Amino acid sequence: MKDNWKEIEKLRAEAKLGGGEKRIKAQHDKGKLTARERIELLVDEGSFEEIDMFVKHRAADFGLDKMKLPGDGVVTGFAKINNRPVGIFSQDFTVFGGSLSEAHAEKICKVMDQCLKIGIPIIGLNDSGGARIQEGVVSLGGYAEIFLRNTLASGVVPQISAVLGPCAGGAVYSPAITDFIFMVQQTSHMFVTGPNVVKTVTHEEVTFEDLGGAATHASKSGVAHFSFDSEIEVFQNIRKLFDFLPLNWKDRSPEKEFDFTKDFIEPKLDDIVPENPNKPYNMYDIICMLVDDHDFLEVHKYYAQNLIVGFGRIGGMTVGVVANQPSVLAGVLDINASTKGARFVRFCDAFNIPLLVLEDVPGFLPGTEQEWNGIIRHGAKLLFAFCEATVPKVTVITRKAYGGAYDVMNSKHIRGDFNIAWPTAEIAVMGPKGAVEIIFKKEIESSENPEKKVQEKVEEYREKFANPFIAAERGYLDDVIKPRETRQKLINAFQLLKTKVDSNPKKKHCNIPL
Ligand code: HXC
Repeated sequence: MKDNWKEIEKLRAEAKLGGGEKRIKAQHDKGKLTARERIELLVDEGSFEEIDMFVKHRAADFGLDKMKLPGDGVVTGFAKINNRPVGIFSQDFTVFGGSLSEAHAEKICKVMDQCLKIGIPIIGLNDSGGARIQEGVVSLGGYAEIFLRNTLASGVVPQISAVLGPCAGGAVYSPAITDFIFMVQQTSHMFVTGPNVVKTVTHEEVTFEDLGGAATHASKSGVAHFSFDSEIEVFQNIRKLFDFLPLNWKDRSPEKEFDFTKDFIEPKLDDIVPENPNKPYNMYDIICMLVDDHDFLEVHKYYAQNLIVGFGRIGGMTVGVVANQPSVLAGVLDINASTKGARFVRFCDAFNIPLLVLEDVPGFLPGTEQEWNGIIRHGAKLLFAFCEATVPKVTVITRKAYGGAYDVMNSKHIRGDFNIAWPTAEIAVMGPKGAVEIIFKKEIESSENPEKKVQEKVEEYREKFANPFIAAERGYLDDVIKPRETRQKLINAFQLLKTKVDSNPKKKHCNIPL
């Protein structure tokens, strides 16, 4: 009996060594951790239960029959993060460069299938040279099996990807279908075609980092939702993100203990919006005063910074925050901000995460660049996402709510549950100056002092329209409040809305303007 045990131990030790000491050293020398070291850092200590450690590939061409390593380049299994279950796969670059064989793909698919049945999130740690070249189309088929499962799991369980090394060719589409992508500066790269192919086809000279590094994808393309300087920071932040999320679409995010007896009046909120309506201020200051413990995990921090999205808690409950940022492009909505916001809103709605909207928006960005690239189509995404969302939805208008953007940013008319405004709110078809120049055009032109006339009319317009009370009279706003009362109001609103039920008409699926 004990002799059989020896065989288990021997195979386990072999599997744990992956591609061997030399390749492990090479991995460390590149500033990267091994597949198992990564899992250890990511999950609760001692919680990882590995499966399929003894799986080997079945290929024989190009001498592969003599190179069979247990595990076949990916470590899979189940673990816990802060005592909640999760399924994991972690590609092992020390074995055939983490390349994806038939057996490697089967292991990933097995853990994904189980996650769907159990109803738990999937985390993929990607570090791979792509399709195992020696296995040809079998490997491509393996990728397609994974893409299918990523798609079927979308909206059922949260899917999180960390790209921790190369991720090239069609392989990028597995992380791209998942909900969140984390990358590491300098060591992770994603591209459909690498610098050499780019040079051949377009004659552009570009480095790996510029083409598909973490900074590029976090700030330019928006492919990465998070980027950090080290793998350790990636794992810490995946754990943080995980804590905000439910296990599946039927579940609720875990609630933190919260003392409701405290005083939640925050006088500092009274002084944030400047008297001059054209002066910017930082929306982060407001967000941090509204969420519990000033704790806010920003998603897409470096991309489309005119819109802030991320997770916080209010009264112990997870909320998704969508906020215009007046200090970047005056908080205007453009193509990138619209798609960023739409994707975030849809994630929250899919996973029962209530939405808090903080609104100070002068409208959509004008110009040929925006129009020709489809601001109509992309802006419609954000509108569509807010319209279809049935989770609790609360809006606070801090200052401007102009034009179509007023409707889009979770207005009452598109099923906002609790819409409130600060006294500084200006709700109108457009800003005062633009408006008077249109409606009083003739009067201004015929005036002896057009500038003075504009000023007069602006004052008149501001008094009449640029305030929250007309909207409040009609019930488009549920309340106009002092800024200092906001946190208390939000705590009450989200508690009340906990049992909200709403639905959309039955259909096969919607047709969001992609
Ligand atoms: C088999 C591979 C491999 C692959 C790397 N290796 N990629 N084996 N199939 N795709 C092996 C190498 O032979 C080497 O084995 C080990 O992994 C480490 O590779 P190195 O080249 O030494 O590492 P490094 O210098 O860090 O370069 C990493 C790399 C490079 C940039 C990923 O290996 C590379 O360019 N690989 C090919 C990438 C690629 O074109 N893949 C196909 C993409 S298309 P030894 O034994 O020496 O350690 C694709 C299609 C997917 O994936 C389609 C889905 C629809």
